[in-house]
Order: sequence, then C-alpha cells, then structure tokens
Amino acid sequence: MAGRMSGISGEAAFETLARANELERQGRSVVHLEIGEPDFDTPSPIVNAGVDWLKKGATHYAPVAGIWELRQRIAGELSGRYPNKIDPSTIIITPGAKMMIFSMILSVVDPGDEVIYPAPAYPAYEAAIRIAGATPVAVRLEESKGFRFDLDEVALKVTPRTKMFVINSPQNPTGGVLQLEDIQGLFKLAEEHDLLILSDEIYSKIFYAERPASTLDVPGILNRLLMVNGFSKTTAMTGWRLGYGVVPADLFKAVELFVNTSVSSTATFTQLAGIEAFTEETGVAVQSMVREFHKRRDVFVDGLNKIKGIRCLRPAGAFYLFPNVSGLGMSSKEVADRLLNEAGVACLPGTAFGDYGEGYLRFSFANSLSNIESALERIKTFVDNL
Ligand SMILES: Cc1ncc(COP(=O)(O)O)c(C=O)c1O
Repeated sequence: MAGRMSGISGEAAFETLARANELERQGRSVVHLEIGEPDFDTPSPIVNAGVDWLKKGATHYAPVAGIWELRQRIAGELSGRYPNKIDPSTIIITPGAKMMIFSMILSVVDPGDEVIYPAPAYPAYEAAIRIAGATPVAVRLEESKGFRFDLDEVALKVTPRTKMFVINSPQNPTGGVLQLEDIQGLFKLAEEHDLLILSDEIYSKIFYAERPASTLDVPGILNRLLMVNGFSKTTAMTGWRLGYGVVPADLFKAVELFVNTSVSSTATFTQLAGIEAFTEETGVAVQSMVREFHKRRDVFVDGLNKIKGIRCLRPAGAFYLFPNVSGLGMSSKEVADRLLNEAGVACLPGTAFGDYGEGYLRFSFANSLSNIESALERIKTFVDNL
C-alpha cells in the first residue's frame, strides 16, 4: 500500500453494516442505526425522470463541470434562499458530495499546508487532507457548547502554514448547528490570515427549528468560500451519486481540472433527474421526510435520556444523535461492539469520527419509529444488565 494511504480511515459505517449483515445471515435480529442515509425512497418525480432520460438516450458523457440547466437550477435555488447571489458558472457537479470534498482539497491544498477542522468530524476531510500531503489540525467540539466550535481555540491553531478551515453545519456526527456569529467570526479570521473556508452544508435542509445559518448568509465571503452540498441526504439520493460545489472564480479551473482528470463527469441521467429536485412536488416530499425525522429525533432523545449512564443533546439538524456514554464505564468502541453483538443494535463509536469522539456513540435516526423504539428497549435491557 502506498505510504499516503497509511493512517487513513474510511467510513466505519460500511464496515459495521457488513458485520451487522453477517449477524443477520446467522439468524440474529439487528436494528440498523449505523448508516447515514435516509430510509425513504427517492421521491418519485426524480425516479421517473431518471428512467425517462435513460430511455431517451441520456447515456453519454456530460460536460466536466456538469449540465448547465442543473447548475442554473442550483444557483437559482441558493440565490433564493440566501443573501449571496450565486452565479451558475461557479458551480461544479460531482458524483456525490464526497467527491467534491476531495476535488476541492486536492486541487487547492499543497503538501506541508495545514487545514483546521472541528472534530469529531466526517472522516473524508481528514482523509483528503492527508492524501493531499497536508496536515489535519483538529479543534475539539465540546458537548457543553452544543458541539459548536470555539473561535478562540480555532484562532490559536492558525499558523503561517494554515491554508484552509473546514466546517460542517448541520454537523455529522453530532447534529450540532453553527450560529451566524460563528461563521462571521471564522470569516473574519480567514480575512485576517488570507485563508480559504470549505463549508460542507449537505444537511442544510434537514433541521428542526429555524433555518441554520449558512456561509451564504455572510456578505463578501464568496471569494474565499468553497461550499459543498448535494442531493444524497435531502432528496434521499445516496445511490445516485450527485453532489456539487460552489467555487471561487479564481479556483474554478483547478477544481474543474481535478474532476476532468479523475471522474470526467457525473452520470448524465443522474444530473437530469436531479433537476426534478427543485419542483414543488419534491419540496413537499422533502418536508414530509423532515417532519418524520423530527418525530423520531424526539422519541429517540427522550428515550436515551431515561437510560442511566447515557446523556444525549437534542440535535438541531441532520439525522444523528451523539449521546455521551462515558457513564457506562467502557470505551466507545466496546459499547458499540457489545451493543451490536449482545443487543442487536448497530451504531458507531464516536471514535469513528476521530479521537475526540471518545465517550460518545453515533446513532442515525433515519429508521422507522418502531425500529427506534425497539432499539431503545434493547439498549435499556443491555445497560440494566451491565
Ligand atoms: C457531512 C457529510 N458530507 C458529505 C457526505 C457525503 O455525501 P455524498 O453521498 O453526496 O457523497 C456525507 C455522507 O455521509 C456527510 O455526512
């Protein structure tokens, strides 16, 4: 294996899913709360459009940066939701948001650079930073601060080698949501030190109170902002592979070149189907998914908080719970392993998101209420018998 791959962690969810599936093959019952994808099907207008486009011959390469109409629809939608006005020519489509994270980091970060990111965090950031030959610099997200970063701590980590901040809100794995003042403060710091901001906003439409603040709420940010978003979570399209980025005009060619030389383009029928994500009908389907997530979140949080040794914040966005299980007196990995093997509940240890995740578990609540209730009973019985 090449040296650059050592120390890289993949997404633990796929490995836990394989272990859970193996247990099920042996006849065991498992509640799946490990994988980060909606349990809903893709809304039917999108599916129908995809099938129609395939039949109409949309089976050829697409332009490297993506199909213009999709880029226009994305730009129009972002410009309608946020004060910053987005030019479609600054948008690039990729097969999934993860590919956009890699495309951005590998095309703008140099070996020896440092990239600061709040952690526990989605593992792709650290992986892309390491593969770029740069140094990942984690800033601890504290439960006591609602898993929002502390700007003073971020400022302390800035050195002459710092190139970029990576943020993610609503956040995976904690469900934490940044406030506008956090993003404004980070932008000020970026201006002072001439840094870029990569903001992953893939959960921007999955929230349970007021709309979360976005980097696109901050005036003047666009020339240092690389914004990642996509269709996997909001429109339940994980398997279609459709993500996008908004890139500063002077970095556009570099990111586009990376996409050109790696994946060439994103599947044509996927992009054409994605245009249907902007219809009113799909909007209604998305709202009903979010309402369902909301109910599940409350049942799950309330249930966990009744179990001794477990304490769980009520996340404002995304579809994950990140309960503190340090009261159980075991490592996160041990709790997660035992919950799977002894209780039939598949979840991830917080350490799947970096060392700062020790003491926590991550549960996805993208599963039915009855499965969540069954998981709660299993977790309670497991804890009672410790
Ligand atoms: C924060 C975050 N960013 C990006 C992704 C990847 O999205 P996609 O499936 O579009 O590659 C995920 C998926 O879990 C995620 O949680």
